[in-house]
Formats: sequence, structure tokens, C-alpha cells
Amino acid sequence: ASTLGSAAAAQGRYFGTAVSINKLSDATYSSILNREFNSVTAENEMKIDALEPQQNQFNYTTADRLITLANGMGAKVRGHTLAWHSQQPGWMQSMSGTALRSAMKNHITQVMTHYKGKIDSWDVVNEAFDDSNGGRRDSNLQRTGNDWIEDAFKTARAADPAVKLCYNDYNTDNWTWAKTQGVYNMVKDFKARGVPIDCVGFQSHFNSGSPYPSNYRTTLQNFADLGVDVQITELDIEGSGTTQANTYANVVRDCLAVTRCNGITVWGIRDSDSWRASGTPLLFDANGNPKQAYTSTLAALGGS
Ligand code: G3I
Repeated sequence: ASTLGSAAAAQGRYFGTAVSINKLSDATYSSILNREFNSVTAENEMKIDALEPQQNQFNYTTADRLITLANGMGAKVRGHTLAWHSQQPGWMQSMSGTALRSAMKNHITQVMTHYKGKIDSWDVVNEAFDDSNGGRRDSNLQRTGNDWIEDAFKTARAADPAVKLCYNDYNTDNWTWAKTQGVYNMVKDFKARGVPIDCVGFQSHFNSGSPYPSNYRTTLQNFADLGVDVQITELDIEGSGTTQANTYANVVRDCLAVTRCNGITVWGIRDSDSWRASGTPLLFDANGNPKQAYTSTLAALGGS
């Protein structure tokens, strides 16, 4: 296989990227997208502020273009994201209590109903844990009650019983970190009590403060052993050259070593498409040329 997507498919996995709809008119961007990837995630267009700008008034026009694009590519779609403290529309930011809880559930139900049958995995809840202490992040959603996460997952299952429901977070890669343990204990508890959850997304934004950990494979396997799929959902790795290329290959090998690691998504195509203001964290350079990291990733997937 000579592309990321086809090499991953030969391993029974997908290889995806975040897509920014407004870049689709860029011919270089589009040609790499169509050639290399078999899964897509909207970088911003399926977030709460984008889909429900006014309460109970939904705008699917831009996000629907991603579905059309994915269908044309034969690609899966990861839905991102239904409940999150960030990128809430103004009306939601100012809500609290039972009104906010109801609004969260209505958003989940409406959006999942609209996209029924069109999405492979939904990030139902994103980034709900605190960065340092392993507990919950403070947010307007958290202040509606500690059961808001399970309420979100139960609402999601009722809206679409067929789609995979994921919890997605960052800095949950190192097995020894308190945040990783916090999320692990939540998933374990959900499984024990029958709260619906099918997958855990590891964003995997690796940089000097949060480097790729040597126990990454252990983390993925331990979560998988709870009975969930694991997915690498927003991969980018700061650095360059051989060091960066080796880290990308290690990440791929770790995923392939875990049976239930069923897909990898990078958070953008070219370095110039990255959300990071500086750096070169992706697989293609600003001109769209494949980097050393591309070659090592493809090789680790068994392609060439
Ligand atoms: O579209 C508006 C534009 O109209 C406006 O003029 C401009 C001025 O600020 O902002 C534009 O919106 C920006 C948007 O990206 C689209 O480019 C927002 O300000 C900016 O905040 C937003 O950043 C996104 C960020 O999430 C917001 O939380 C990044 O693109 C996106 O890559 C990033 O993705 C997150 C994942 O969803 C969750 N995990 C972490 C990851 C990286 O931060």
C-alpha cells in the first residue's frame, strides 16, 4: 500500500485527518486529503457553537459538506464534539443548572438524529477532566452535577443506538499521570454500571510539556482491556527530522500492537494547517510535500 489510508486499511484500521472545510478550495490540500486519508474529523465545524449558534436553531450546512466529502472519498467520519466546556455558543455559556443540562441533552439528541447513519464514532464528551489532579474540570457543565457525563452518554445512546460513543481527552497518554487514571476510573465505573461507552479517544498532542510517553502502549492496552475501542484522535508531534519521524512510527506501532486500537487521526494535513501557531508537527510540509515523518508513518503501517 502506498498511502496512509490504504496501508492502515490493510491492518484493519483507518488513518484520518482533521479537515477544515474552508480549505477544501485549496487544490494542494484537497489532493492530499483525497489521496491519503480514509477518515475525517471536522476541525471546528461540528462543534456546539457551529451547529447550534442560537438555542434550538441548528445550522448543518457547512458540516454537511464534510459528510458529502467523506462519502465521495469512501471515508469514515468522526463526529467532534457534542458536549464540551469550550466552543460553546454565547447563549450556552451563560446558562447553568437544569436549563443547561436540558440544553446539552437537546443538542446531543438533535445533532445525533440529524447525522444518524452517517458517523462512525462520536466524541460525546470532550476534555472533562482537570489537567493536574485527576478530578473533573470545573465548567458550567460540571456544575450541573457530576452525573452530566453519564447523562450525555445515555442521551447519545438513545438518540442513535448504532454509532460508537467516545470519551475524548488530551494528556491522558502517560499511564502514570493522574488525569489518565481519572479517565480510566470513570470508564471502568461506566462499564461496571452499564453506562453506554464504546471508545476512548486519545488526542495525543505531543510536545515538550506533554511528550510521547514510553508507556503509551500500556495506556492504550489498559483502556482496551476495559472493553472499549481506543482511537488516536488528534495526533500531532512537535519537532522535526528523524526524532519526530521515529516518534510518529512508535505511535503507529503502539496502536497496531493493541487489537482494539482501530484508528489514528492526525490533527491537520500540512504543518501550515496546524492549530499550533508555530512549529512543524504534522506529516506534510507547508508546500504539501511528504516529510520524513510521513515516510516513517507509512512504513510503520506496513506500506511503502
Ligand atoms: O472562524 C473564525 C473567524 O471567523 C474569526 O475571524 C477568527 C478570529 O479569531 O476566528 C476564527 O475561529 C477560530 C477557529 O479555530 C477557526 O479557525 C477560533 O478563533 C479558534 O479558537 C479556533 O481554534 C480551534 C480550537 O480547537 C478551539 O478550541 C482550532 O482550529 C482547532 O484545531 C482546535 O481543536 C482542538 C480540538 O477541538 C480539541 N482538542 C484540542 C484541539 C487543539 O486545540
